[in-house]
Amino acid sequence: MTRFRIDQMLSRHGYCSRGESRGWLKAGRVRIGDLIAKDPSEKVLLADLRIDGEPVDHPEGILVMLHKPAGLVCSRDEREGANVFSLLPERWSRRNPPITSVGRLDKETTGLLLITDRGELVQRWTSPRHKVTKRYEVLVDQDLTPELIPLFASGTLRLPDESDPCLPATLTLTGTRTASLDLIEGRYHQVRRMFASQGFRVESLHRSRFGALDLGDLPPGQWRAVSEASI
Ligand code: URA
Repeated sequence: MTRFRIDQMLSRHGYCSRGESRGWLKAGRVRIGDLIAKDPSEKVLLADLRIDGEPVDHPEGILVMLHKPAGLVCSRDEREGANVFSLLPERWSRRNPPITSVGRLDKETTGLLLITDRGELVQRWTSPRHKVTKRYEVLVDQDLTPELIPLFASGTLRLPDESDPCLPATLTLTGTRTASLDLIEGRYHQVRRMFASQGFRVESLHRSRFGALDLGDLPPGQWRAVSEASI
């Protein structure tokens, strides 16, 4: 098993910078097993480290699903307003790499958003090549027509200013103005733009599934850990 420097571990997992680690050790906040750590450059097994009496938080990386409420953005750009990361432990945003969302939901879209610090999972689950189905529940401003079903499934629907048609998508009408839409791609504002191309305005949009993972009864603003195999 690989050993790592204590100061590197503290900074990589978001506890403090490497420079600050000396202070943490001096204050007796870091132990190796039962012994107080003294030297920030000492190489230790992650499993042996205790910080303020606790094992290292998510030593193998973070993967959680969040029920995104409306009104928060997935970007960290402060000019865009409050973001979804404010709902999660602050330390996770100081990790290296920091947590990020797997794709994005619009500010007013609610529902299932995966959060991880594992870049390879972001790559895998946002690429249409991997065919991860995302399910959206949609409410539109007018009565839906059954002709939309074969059109969305056809693989020929072109969005304005885009040369490649949308990949086939499965539309299921669930009410006069409600439907669920299964997509394997995630273009910018894709659901809103697909409906807009046919004259509909999406009034509310909620993602209920991501791959095999269902949001279930997770309340808005709450998160829970999930396994890679459950997606
Ligand atoms: N499609 C949209 O239009 N918005 C989202 O947030 C997600 C998919």
